[in-house]
Amino acid sequence: MTGTEQFSWQRLLQQAEGLLSVSSNRISNAANLSALLYQELPGISWVGFYFLEDQTLMLGPFQGKPACVSIEMGKGVCGSAASSGQSIRVADVDNFDGHIACDADARAEIVVPLFKQGELLGVLDVDSLKPDRFSEQDEAGLNALAQVYLSSID
Ligand code: SME
Repeated sequence: MTGTEQFSWQRLLQQAEGLLSVSSNRISNAANLSALLYQELPGISWVGFYFLEDQTLMLGPFQGKPACVSIEMGKGVCGSAASSGQSIRVADVDNFDGHIACDADARAEIVVPLFKQGELLGVLDVDSLKPDRFSEQDEAGLNALAQVYLSSID
């Protein structure tokens, strides 16, 4: 997106569909989707995947600063979204009990759980340095994007 264009979830979803259509590899597609989101979503500081392995969320492809490698189910925003099966939108991480601060400057966060055929695969996590960065529309957009990702992989 150039500086003059307005951000549009619809356009981002179309871009993601094109980008992810060339492969069905979950790591490759997670890597490219992270890069697309980091480039296109205004005002975000980190975006990436955690994949479930032996009941622990393990860091997958991401863009941004180095991050926490493993998160237990039920812990932090990621572990809470994973164990509840619901996306979680946090306006101010200081008000989220148990938030895990990988980057002390991060203020707002949104996490979408990823289910493939009813099985928890992991989560998609986005952070911002701006409080209240994520709207209801962003939550709907990110959930739709998660579906594009899930449909693209094996
Ligand atoms: N803040 C997250 C940890 C992951 S990082 O933000 C990349 C959490 O509370 O689960």
